[in-house]
Amino acid sequence: MERLTSPPRLMIVSDLDDTMVEHRNDNENHSLLRFNSLWEEAYRHDSLLVFSTGRAKTMYKKLRKARPLLTPDVIVTSVGTEISYGKSMVPDENWVEIMNNKWNRGIVEEETRKFPELTLQAETEQMPHKLSFHVDKSKVKEVTKELYQRLEKRGLEIKIIFSGGIALDVLPKGGGKGQALAYLLKKLKTEGKLPLNTLVCGDSGNDTELFTIPNVYGVMVSNAREELLEWYAANGKDNSNIIHACERCAGGIIEAIGHFKLGPKLSPRDVSDFLECKADNVNPGHAVVEFFLFYERWRRGEIENCAAYTKSLKASCDPAGVFVHPSGAEKSLRGTIDELGKYHGDKKDKKFRVWTDQVLATETTHGTWIVKLDKWEQTGNERKCCTTTVKFTSKENEGFVWENVQQTWSEESEVKDDSTWII
Ligand code: GLC
Ligand code: MG
Repeated sequence: MERLTSPPRLMIVSDLDDTMVEHRNDNENHSLLRFNSLWEEAYRHDSLLVFSTGRAKTMYKKLRKARPLLTPDVIVTSVGTEISYGKSMVPDENWVEIMNNKWNRGIVEEETRKFPELTLQAETEQMPHKLSFHVDKSKVKEVTKELYQRLEKRGLEIKIIFSGGIALDVLPKGGGKGQALAYLLKKLKTEGKLPLNTLVCGDSGNDTELFTIPNVYGVMVSNAREELLEWYAANGKDNSNIIHACERCAGGIIEAIGHFKLGPKLSPRDVSDFLECKADNVNPGHAVVEFFLFYERWRRGEIENCAAYTKSLKASCDPAGVFVHPSGAEKSLRGTIDELGKYHGDKKDKKFRVWTDQVLATETTHGTWIVKLDKWEQTGNERKCCTTTVKFTSKENEGFVWENVQQTWSEESEVKDDSTWII
């Protein structure tokens, strides 16, 4: 969050499973990729992305390996009982202290063991401040009431959350996704960085609390679960800051950005020909997002094999521009575009996707920009990632000129030596 020097324009706080990430109808991650390019092009530089998930960190990392998830600024894991910051996920120790208040894991274990209706979830889901079970829906009311009473008698203050029609979590009373968001907002306010707008996004029971935080917009994606919709019918219907989207998952998040007029809502992935639509390229981060999208479409053979495209790209590269390949080899930038020209359609039907993450542009001296990003490439199940630095110059009315590009294999890349990598 340190990179922002002023209040974020938008903070998105989104659940992952069945909200940001589609598990049923979209194995090409279409809507997630649409959200990703919108975020990187229009919001990354001045906004905050927060993921708030029921998953523990290890299970989150698993999901991140399987799906094209962006790197959030803040990650809230284990149903709002852990908060961590940045790519390296530095835990908030202060939040741990808060979670310890009136909490004793041993006692919760002891008491929950007395309920035959509760089946413990896998070991990987059990965390210091979260015990998770499966329970038959018909038993939830009874069990919840009884468990609250028993734990209160033993001096604890806890919270029970029912989600997805099957999962029951026991947390400290001060925990949960809503409390974690309230804590974050307070922290940001103290730092003078209270977001201008906040949008919360969810689909199930453990997301309910997010919608109860004052002054936030909320979207329940179209595929929201019964327990969230029931809460909405009883408590949220009169709140015009909450919508039930028409679109599923990340599509619903984009829909809400448009509905509440929170900023740009057109994903570059929904624009078919952006080489002809060079509208408001005020930030060279846009040029990078769009270039790699062009690159994906070119190799998937989704755009016409037309020399005008590569010609126009070459024209925006300095004739002396250099590309440092992740292998260390130096090539000419224009030569690299020529080489790309030969790969039209080579990834057709190969489940090839390209996405950019953490695209950040800085103007170093007047008219000189450095854009840093992670460029991901996936073919089938194989993923590669290069940390990429692009230097641009800009002259009045002439747009951005690519001066040089440098890439190194990212730590997260599954492949770290590949002579077929183009750029
Ligand atoms: C996630 C967690 C699970 C929890 C559920 C509902 O699926 O992995 O442990 O019970 O969210 O909060
Ligand atoms: Mg969910």
